[in-house]
Amino acid sequence: RNQDGSMAKSAMHQSTLSKERRDLREHQQKQAMQSIPKDIMKAWEDPSAAPGSRALISSLKTRGGQDMGAIRNKKFLNTSRTSATITEQRQSLPICKLKQSLVETIGKCRVLVVIGETGSGKTTQITQYLVESGFANRGKIACTQPRRMAAMSVAKRVSEEFGCKLGTKVGYSIRFEDCTSSETIIKYMTDGMLLREALVDRDLNAYSVIILDEAHERNIHTDVLFGLLKSTLEHRKDLHLIVTSATLEAEKFSAYFNDCPIFTIPGRNYHVEVFFTQEPEADYLEATLDTVTQIHLTEPPGDILVFLTGQEEIDTTCQILNERMAALGDVVPPLLVLPVYSAQPSEVQSRIFDPAPEGSRKCVVATNIAEASLTINGIYYVVDPGFAKIKAFNPKLGMDTLIVSSISQASAKQRAGRAGRTGPGKCFRLYTESAFKNEMLPSTVPEIQRTNLANTVLSLKAMGINDLFGFDFMDRPPTQSLVNAMETLYALGSLDDEGLLTQLGRKMSEFPLEPQLSKMLLTAVDLECVDETITIVAMLSVPSVFYRPRDKQGIADQKRARFHQIEGDHLTLLNVYETWKAHKFSNSWCYDNFIQSRSMKRAQDVRTQLLSIIERHNFEIKSSRGDYGRVRKAITAGFFAHAARKDPKEGYRTLVDNHQIYIHPSSALFNRAPEWVVYHELVLTTKEYMREVCAVEPHWLVDVAPHFYKKIDPDQLKSMRKNKKIEPLFNRYEDKNAWRLTRRKG
Ligand code: CDP
Ligand code: MG
Repeated sequence: RNQDGSMAKSAMHQSTLSKERRDLREHQQKQAMQSIPKDIMKAWEDPSAAPGSRALISSLKTRGGQDMGAIRNKKFLNTSRTSATITEQRQSLPICKLKQSLVETIGKCRVLVVIGETGSGKTTQITQYLVESGFANRGKIACTQPRRMAAMSVAKRVSEEFGCKLGTKVGYSIRFEDCTSSETIIKYMTDGMLLREALVDRDLNAYSVIILDEAHERNIHTDVLFGLLKSTLEHRKDLHLIVTSATLEAEKFSAYFNDCPIFTIPGRNYHVEVFFTQEPEADYLEATLDTVTQIHLTEPPGDILVFLTGQEEIDTTCQILNERMAALGDVVPPLLVLPVYSAQPSEVQSRIFDPAPEGSRKCVVATNIAEASLTINGIYYVVDPGFAKIKAFNPKLGMDTLIVSSISQASAKQRAGRAGRTGPGKCFRLYTESAFKNEMLPSTVPEIQRTNLANTVLSLKAMGINDLFGFDFMDRPPTQSLVNAMETLYALGSLDDEGLLTQLGRKMSEFPLEPQLSKMLLTAVDLECVDETITIVAMLSVPSVFYRPRDKQGIADQKRARFHQIEGDHLTLLNVYETWKAHKFSNSWCYDNFIQSRSMKRAQDVRTQLLSIIERHNFEIKSSRGDYGRVRKAITAGFFAHAARKDPKEGYRTLVDNHQIYIHPSSALFNRAPEWVVYHELVLTTKEYMREVCAVEPHWLVDVAPHFYKKIDPDQLKSMRKNKKIEPLFNRYEDKNAWRLTRRKG
């Protein structure tokens, strides 16, 4: 575990684009620019020996950048989507020929596993075939997606194919956004949303067919749905379940569903040549930039797909690529650089499917989402640095953190396959062949085995499933994670001594939020400050509202600082929202203040949705009328386990295990450093930073979490310490004024 931890951390370090590194990079880039293309040439280890590529590179090398005329005159052909009509496109999909037999097979069996290459038409076509064959007469067709963005983009595409307005017959439902109506018969949704619907109607009676799409992703919700639906199928004899997968987990899925049949859609993938680097890369971002430039300068027409780990990294890389291309001027054909990650607005997202303009090349820089969930036509080159951001439970911190870690061999193969959809392609792996063989796991560990289960356990309990150890999981989560989750829920007051759902727990389960946030909201109802708290919860649930462009960081930080509140970041977020509201939710106000208006609008939507849940309970929406102490106490009620106290030497120490952490430099409390704080989350970059920090009174901790903390009588401390019954926080036992809080054991 230790080893894993440190590996993940070093990968994280690599991915962090700290300011110094950016400056250094800019400098190196300027230098590199002068010698392009000579110095960007990488040496590739080619297991299948690809002399063509080598020859190209070496011929360019010998030209030493002198003869750029050839490149200048190179015209790029448009190989992306042709002008075929939508019907022609549908008919050309591999799945089309099998339509009849597929529909018949679905009719004959209760559960069917469908496998087929990505892009064969599973997601967009099966739902429509089912409607054409009358399956929608008895109920809706649901198709789940592990990602919000995939659910949205695929629903949009299918509504176009189906010839209806999005949100009518074809719609989607994702957290905080329901784009369906009473007419909807084809519903794309995140698997998390289907699970939420199961909370209300355990048997999902509204549906006649449920497609668990991309099941190989083994999202935590998909895994729970496996177990739920398996039992639902026993008493809902009219329900059909389809499980689709792009990879070869089919046998395992079939075995789990009592050896159900497997339907295979033959692929039409072309050969993809795979290249490895000869040496491990010290900096995968640098290597990525070089590789893209190299492909653009030396390879024949065809679009590029790059896999990176997250928004910040993607934005920075896109920016640098654009700068590099601009510096090369019209010596090279234009490169259209397009970022893809889930926090993007849908207008930007649909641009990635558009073909590159005549004479230019498209370079899509995406997260894992492009591995299987999205199919972009015209990709001939894949650049795979071998990393992805995954959620993992950090036992030391008792919470999930996003860490950058190595992908699995299965993911690497899937990524490479993306280059062979339109014609023979090439995949450039920024790691060595030996790393692929010896360091990568054969397949990714299912999420249920690596993340915090508090939310899942709460949902299961709310569905009346009490015996979690007897639940039919496809892959059982570790017993310790189940126990930890139950402990968390007990400390939050959602489970009682016997592990049964409390009334509070039931109310908490109705919010599409992490249990800590729903606890915070419900406490705010009691403390009569829900009006403010709901805004804070909404602001915490959207991507960062602060806009900090690379070339205007200074001014952006100044603007941000004006919103800072001495009590911390939660109240700062509240202040931003309230000020925006005072300016009539204006876009230009956002623009002037370096605030992301898109995030603000989402926060406004989230707020409205949460309000409707609160109102359903007939709770009054009361305001604290400026008594923000109550708001902070409500925050503490949810996040007491994330409490930390100032370390006299440096930074802070967590109360639960005395772990050293720091206030993030962007925090309102960075220079203030109050004695006691609770934080929303930790981010691991160069240090472990608390993000969204709130100053608290220590006695609140004991008030709001009596199962978790107790106050120690200072006089008893010495003897108790000798008996090792408790773990005091600091060695300053003599400080009579200090609060002593320890975590209750057992
Ligand atoms: O699910 P599967 O990977 O088998 O394929 P799909 O997502 O149904 O995609 C079938 C075809 O629809 C592909 O050729 C995509 O390019 C196209 N498609 C699209 O043009 N726009 C979307 N938003 C989704 C799919
Ligand atoms: Mg699909």
